[in-house]
Amino acid sequence: MARGLAILLSTVAVIHLVRAASNSTLNQFPDGFLLGAATAAYQIEGAWNEDGKGENIWDHMFHEHPEYTNNGANGDVACDSYHKYAEDVEALKGIGAEVYRFSVSWSRILPTGDLDVINQAGIDYYNNVINLLLENGIEPMVTMYHWDLPQALQYIGGWPNPLIADYFVEYARILFENFGDRVKWWITFNEPSVFTSGYSSVGYQAPSQNAPGIGNYLAAHTLIRAHGKVYRLYDQQFRATQNGRVGITLSTDWYEPAEDTEACVEAQRRMFEFQLGLYAHPIYVDGDYPAVVRERVDNNSRAEGRPRSRLPSFTEEEKQEIRGSSDFFGLNAYTTSLVMPGESGTSPSLELDSGVIRFYNESWPVSSAIWLRVVPWGFRKLLNWVATEYQGYPIIVTENGYADTGELDDQGRISYYGSYLAEMLKAVNEDGVNVFGYMAWSIIDNLEWASGYAVRFGLYQVDFNSTDRTRTPKASASFMGDIYRNKTVPEEYFQ
Ligand SMILES: *[C@@H]1O[C@H](CO)[C@@H](O)[C@H](O)[C@H]1NC(C)=O
Ligand SMILES: *[C@@H]1O[C@H](CO)[C@@H](O)[C@H](O)[C@H]1NC(C)=O
Ligand SMILES: *[C@@H]1O[C@H](CO)[C@@H](O)[C@H](O)[C@H]1NC(C)=O
Ligand SMILES: *[C@@H]1O[C@H](CO)[C@@H](O)[C@H](O)[C@H]1NC(C)=O
Ligand SMILES: *[C@@H]1O[C@H](CO)[C@@H](O)[C@H](O)[C@H]1NC(C)=O
Repeated sequence: MARGLAILLSTVAVIHLVRAASNSTLNQFPDGFLLGAATAAYQIEGAWNEDGKGENIWDHMFHEHPEYTNNGANGDVACDSYHKYAEDVEALKGIGAEVYRFSVSWSRILPTGDLDVINQAGIDYYNNVINLLLENGIEPMVTMYHWDLPQALQYIGGWPNPLIADYFVEYARILFENFGDRVKWWITFNEPSVFTSGYSSVGYQAPSQNAPGIGNYLAAHTLIRAHGKVYRLYDQQFRATQNGRVGITLSTDWYEPAEDTEACVEAQRRMFEFQLGLYAHPIYVDGDYPAVVRERVDNNSRAEGRPRSRLPSFTEEEKQEIRGSSDFFGLNAYTTSLVMPGESGTSPSLELDSGVIRFYNESWPVSSAIWLRVVPWGFRKLLNWVATEYQGYPIIVTENGYADTGELDDQGRISYYGSYLAEMLKAVNEDGVNVFGYMAWSIIDNLEWASGYAVRFGLYQVDFNSTDRTRTPKASASFMGDIYRNKTVPEEYFQ
């Protein structure tokens, strides 16, 4: 009964979100479209060991290995948002944001990752942020996990340990219990395809464990199970009273076939399945991994003489729990790459399993992040791909943005946002793709992980040389403010 009711309510929530995409002119956002901006705890908060916060895997990695990061930068202070969150809310008001997507630091709430210590000061901090947002008419959207696992849980193996799924469910329950009366948008995980690489490579992504083709698949398996469990927990115990929505944020490039050949189109399909489908297929299609991923990893594992596949299997019960475990499709999209069949990566590795080579068209403009080429048309194609592959789920763009070196007159960012928003509105108003929101990355300059403070994404500049961490609006903040308030993207970007 409880389950039947929960399914009914979840269907109602989804129907509520699904609206006819277009009856607007091409350059206008549909009524009710959510516009906002995003951040993540480790990238902005600082106060890494204040008021009872526990160490997380990024604190640990950057303290142990300052050489992994640009100029030895780390998140010890970052934007000092732990103390200056009111200035972040002012910045959000400055651009007319309706939604703020931020993440909760697991080890600020549960310093050991477990329920033995519940840190009230951490709960108070997020209550203050949430309440101030609501007082200013901005809706909170909370990411539960934006890459910062409590180090105590890494000591027992981190995400490759299947038990971590249960720890995550217990943490999620604390969040629903404490914040769910006011938070109506929940994202379990941010960009699993990126953070699982912390178990397949060294020096880029915490916890920097060198187990390619094994550790990253085990981590993926645990987090997908964890996601399904948290969704069902909300269904069964919170949805009826809190009436929010729960989803996940996945990231991918648009993968353009390098040549117009069948082999390149097959490589495109494999690339999408290994990067996006690995997570999206279980959750949005049928509870299980894409067939091409299953087949290739199993086959390669056998050829390597292993008694088991490097990619674990879900039980029937887990498949039931995972299938359909999202009220929306959160998408982070920045760039495009070209793909063709070929061998890349070590043996074993996800890259080698995929049998795809990825590269850029050198004519595509590059940003200050080497992975971010400015290719607006790829954004429209990607939105169409997601809508076609994962039908029935409304899409929210949970991140999109441009990297430079922090200048106030940031014309490159203005041009990026203008052209990407125009391509998104073509997808919505011309192609009928059901996108219901857009979060710019990011409201303020912040710690860009291993790139430190050299790569800047903010609509507001942060002075990292000043103890005040002064926020100053860039030219792009005023540009986005006009778009957000007017619900219109200037015509010139549609030409
Ligand atoms: C579209 O908008 C126009 C003008 O606001 C309105 O008259 C018309 O009924 C709308 N059509 C649909 C299908 O909603
Ligand atoms: C499986 O491996 C065999 C030999 O190792 C190979 O001939 C075959 O093409 C592979 N199949 C797939 C689907 O990768
Ligand atoms: C690279 O971009 C140029 C300019 O748009 C285009 O002419 C060329 O065909 C592209 N090459 C590939 C491999 O996509
Ligand atoms: C601090 O100031 C120096 C000198 O102006 C500059 O080179 C450096 O990039 C600044 N550091 C940061 C993190 O902004
Ligand atoms: C607001 O939108 C209208 C209608 O699309 C447009 O004419 C006007 O220039 C826009 N104003 C700003 C400040 O973008």
